[in-house]
Amino acid sequence: MTQSSALAIILAAGKGTRMKSDLPKVLHRVAGAPMLAHVLEASRQAAIERTALVIGPSMEKVGDDARKLDPHLTVFVQAKQQGTADAVKAARPMLEEFQGHVLILYGDTPLIRAETLTKVRNALDDGADLVVIGFETDDPTGYGRLLLSKKGKLVGIREEKDASEEELALNLCNSGIMGFRSGQTLLELLSRIGNDNAKKEFYLTDAVALAKEAGLESYIVSADGAEVLGVNSRAELAAAEAALQQRLRAKIMDEGATLVSPGTVFFSHDTIVGKDVTIEPNVVIGPNVMIGDNVTIRAFSHIEGAKIGKGAIVGPFARLRPGAQLSENAHIGNFVEIKQSDIGEGAKVNHLTYIGDASVGARANVGAGTITCNYDGVAKHRTEIGEDSFIGSNSALVAPVKIGAGAYIGSGSVISKDVEPDALALSRAPQETRPGWAKRFRERLKRAKPAGNKET
Ligand code: UD1
Ligand code: MG
Repeated sequence: MTQSSALAIILAAGKGTRMKSDLPKVLHRVAGAPMLAHVLEASRQAAIERTALVIGPSMEKVGDDARKLDPHLTVFVQAKQQGTADAVKAARPMLEEFQGHVLILYGDTPLIRAETLTKVRNALDDGADLVVIGFETDDPTGYGRLLLSKKGKLVGIREEKDASEEELALNLCNSGIMGFRSGQTLLELLSRIGNDNAKKEFYLTDAVALAKEAGLESYIVSADGAEVLGVNSRAELAAAEAALQQRLRAKIMDEGATLVSPGTVFFSHDTIVGKDVTIEPNVVIGPNVMIGDNVTIRAFSHIEGAKIGKGAIVGPFARLRPGAQLSENAHIGNFVEIKQSDIGEGAKVNHLTYIGDASVGARANVGAGTITCNYDGVAKHRTEIGEDSFIGSNSALVAPVKIGAGAYIGSGSVISKDVEPDALALSRAPQETRPGWAKRFRERLKRAKPAGNKET
């Protein structure tokens, strides 16, 4: 465990032009959360106590959203995008008074793991003055290359546009994530960084060569390429999503869930899955979902904002929307949509049904085609369905309405008044049967049929 305190400076002032989007790049989502939220979470998990965020002018939304994610975060604005060193300088007021380690993170590198940040902190504790997270790749295009001495020590970083042929052939690259022993070390190095380079930018990466000149030690911490993937385009956003989904699937299987076809199941960053859960193919799980032990999610279900109690069975083709809460052993079947409703223990809603703004009591049976009519065009209203009640198929329950415990609703009813416990309620027209009527009717039609009018 690392001893020193630490500050993370997250750089997010870049324009993100290649995203071709009105939404600032770091607010684009992977696994249901903005990229920036993933970086903040990794930083929190690595026990980094303080956070600064550097944004560009007219990026207020990034600052506002970031403060919602972390109210203690300090936002700085980099007036002009003059390079990564210039971006770090925007956070100077915080660096001047900060004694501990400083980590530089990128808002568009969402897959970074807390374990790797902890390695950076440990290296700083072990005596490094500067740490760079490096990675090896077969395609180093676009990345800064790490320059090593004969003894294998990190002595510099060369940006692609400034690199020689020989340097371009190197495949050990800079992830962009760096650590510095203290705010003072970093400020000292920043003051010496110029912009005499191909892009006429102030490169933070120049800090490595300057550190060597000053007799300081630079270390490399290795990461795999997927972890430090930087998102600059929609294609890279999709690549980050794929890599994160793979990580989430592996974690969820590791914790004791069966995924029949892992590549077809999509999770969110915050999905919680219990033990002995089975998830069949083609299931999409949006944000804020908790799945209890022994639950089965059958194929083609879409679930978000839902809590699923132990032993419940959901799907195939079920849709659970925000506020759906299933108690233990509830059954939700095909083409059923549940929104903002509690489904009691052992209750069954198995076919072609919409339950919205409702509570369904324990062991109640909701028949096929039942609809809670929860919206009158202006406001939403609640439906309460009592324990052990039976709702006949194709019933419309017009809210606000209460069905008492143990009551029986005749199929095809439109129920708009409360039903007392154990009563039968039905609102359909009484059935009338006329023996022989159909036969007589058919014969009469045949007799009246004009000649030449053929059946087709
Ligand atoms: C940077 C590194 C490169 C590394 C690569 C990894 C430098 C000079 N180069 O290059 O060695 O391999 O990342 O992805 O550091 N930003 C600002 N203000 C600026 C410029 C950038 O806040 O003026 C932010 C961006 O929003 C982004 C990050 O800094 O989060 C990196 O900027 P980017 O322009 O993507 O740098 P690269 O050219 O990719
Ligand atoms: Mg980049």
